[in-house]
Amino acid sequence: MCGIVGVSGRADACEVLVEGLRRLEYRGYDSAGVCGAGLDGAMAGERAAGKVSALAAKLAARGGLAGMSGIAHTRWATHGAAEERNAHPHRAGRVALVHNGIIENHAALKAELMAAGRTFQSDTDSEVVAHLFDAALDVHADPHDAWRAVVGRLQGAFALAAVSESAPGLVFGARKAAPLLAALGNGTGYIASDAMALPEDAATIIYLEDGDTVVAGPGSADVRDAQGRPAQRKQAAGPGVFGRVDKGPFRHFMEKEIHEQPEVVGRTLAAYLDLAGGAVNLPAAVDFAAMNRLLIVGCGTAAYAGMVARYWFESLAGLPTEVDIASEFRYRDPAFAKGDAALFISQSGETADTLEALRLCKAAGLITIALTNTPHSTMAREADIVLPTLAGPEIGVASTKAFTCQLAALAVAAGAQRERMDAQAVQAAIADLSAAPRLMGEALNLRQGVDALALDLARSDIVLFLGRNSLYPLALEGALKLKEISYIHAEGYAAGELKHGPIALIEEGVAVIVLAPMDALFDKTRSSIEQVRARGARVIAVADPEAAAALDGQSALTFVTPAAGRLAAPIVMAVAVQLIAYLTAVHKGTDVDQPRNLAKSVTVE
Ligand code: AGP
Repeated sequence: MCGIVGVSGRADACEVLVEGLRRLEYRGYDSAGVCGAGLDGAMAGERAAGKVSALAAKLAARGGLAGMSGIAHTRWATHGAAEERNAHPHRAGRVALVHNGIIENHAALKAELMAAGRTFQSDTDSEVVAHLFDAALDVHADPHDAWRAVVGRLQGAFALAAVSESAPGLVFGARKAAPLLAALGNGTGYIASDAMALPEDAATIIYLEDGDTVVAGPGSADVRDAQGRPAQRKQAAGPGVFGRVDKGPFRHFMEKEIHEQPEVVGRTLAAYLDLAGGAVNLPAAVDFAAMNRLLIVGCGTAAYAGMVARYWFESLAGLPTEVDIASEFRYRDPAFAKGDAALFISQSGETADTLEALRLCKAAGLITIALTNTPHSTMAREADIVLPTLAGPEIGVASTKAFTCQLAALAVAAGAQRERMDAQAVQAAIADLSAAPRLMGEALNLRQGVDALALDLARSDIVLFLGRNSLYPLALEGALKLKEISYIHAEGYAAGELKHGPIALIEEGVAVIVLAPMDALFDKTRSSIEQVRARGARVIAVADPEAAAALDGQSALTFVTPAAGRLAAPIVMAVAVQLIAYLTAVHKGTDVDQPRNLAKSVTVE
């Protein structure tokens, strides 16, 4: 979950590296560092605990770094506390190195190096690799051979970048089960964790594969495969000005992304629905009619989107559907059956557990479908079929617009191809979904009332979210949103489950947020409200107008969301739970876009 950038052949290498880190900060922000290497090979670096802004301030104080090449890193700590001494780049003799991932055999390698007289400055596994490379340069005349010799000794999942005084102007890269790509510009070379970090000059992206090493120079990229052979890899046009994502008039990226939802959900629906012709436009390769069972796999918010979709796939399409969190699925030795297909949901397309679950299913011969917001991602490249969500770059660590775009795409998929819905039912489903963007826009008007509640919630120690049917996963998502950005302990429960234990948590004043549309289960939801009210809970209902009227007086507070169809309801109500979490976090003063301990893309296990 760290961010890596490398540059070769630029007189403004330091500025390009720091800007690249700013665009990768969503991948981790415990510390940051940069090391430039001049044409004479002389290296100079700077590191800082905390965010890239702290590093930039230190660089400004010293007038930046000279050098036409260099590497940079923003860290999410896996080994070693988030302190400056553990910040990357790590230096060892003539080498500076940055790393994303975990070197599983670092202890044995460190012992070997210490026995050879080397001393270490940090507690990280990464520093071991810097020493290995420095030692290998004494053995191999060709620095790429030295680099390959080092990479070949490493076990684990990692992406690496290094520079060395003995190889002026060159940047060394390696990837194994962690994202890294190379790129070429006008007399320049780059490597990066994500295309977003690349400057406009990077005209051609080169997608490295696991086991590859690369040596990038001014206008060159020498890519070799795991066996050391020159490798031709898939290429694509560079991101252009792509990376200039900013907050616009909003205080946080998360706020901006919540407000972008009507537009991006509409864009995603338009990609899958022929609204004029009233037809569904799924890629031809997707054939839900041929499936006997659908396995949906994801992590966190993505898994909750899958849980919502399960209700739709089973009730609309009659397709037996299971949902697993990836970190459990990949280790439970799943019993596959003929006709199984697997759908992987991931905003980043780089989540390690979800990626390994995809590989497990692919090895078992299942059709693999990736629903992802990142077309350049590893998951998009490895899945048999890609269903893109068109949310655009999601920078806030807490996922919002990607989630509702996932729901939109899944709702379309669930209604397609299974011939369980006659033309009239299909038209009704399309009308239901097509209203979602407009209704989400109306739900954004809840902000004023939610802000008042948020001020109060910010003082809570515990908040419960309740929902039934497709709103049960939304209760889980609402709890996750609140806990991950406000740090308040929040739990989501199936409303019918409360009396089987969790109701013991209820005492005077405990806030319980109930998702209560007027649907076939409304009366059951209302009795759940009564059960917690009777024990002193402060009930906050999120309800459509009819349900709000029926609840009159039974909730301390009711947020009225616009009436929505069965498919649009969780998509529209998601706006309410997102606003509750966002505004509560603002009142708590937490770092909304980059909450403590988190990273946007979890590329380690
Ligand atoms: C969501 O707000 C969290 N940031 C987290 O649960 C996230 O959804 C999860 O890590 C999965 O990420 P992905 O969609 O990129 O795979």
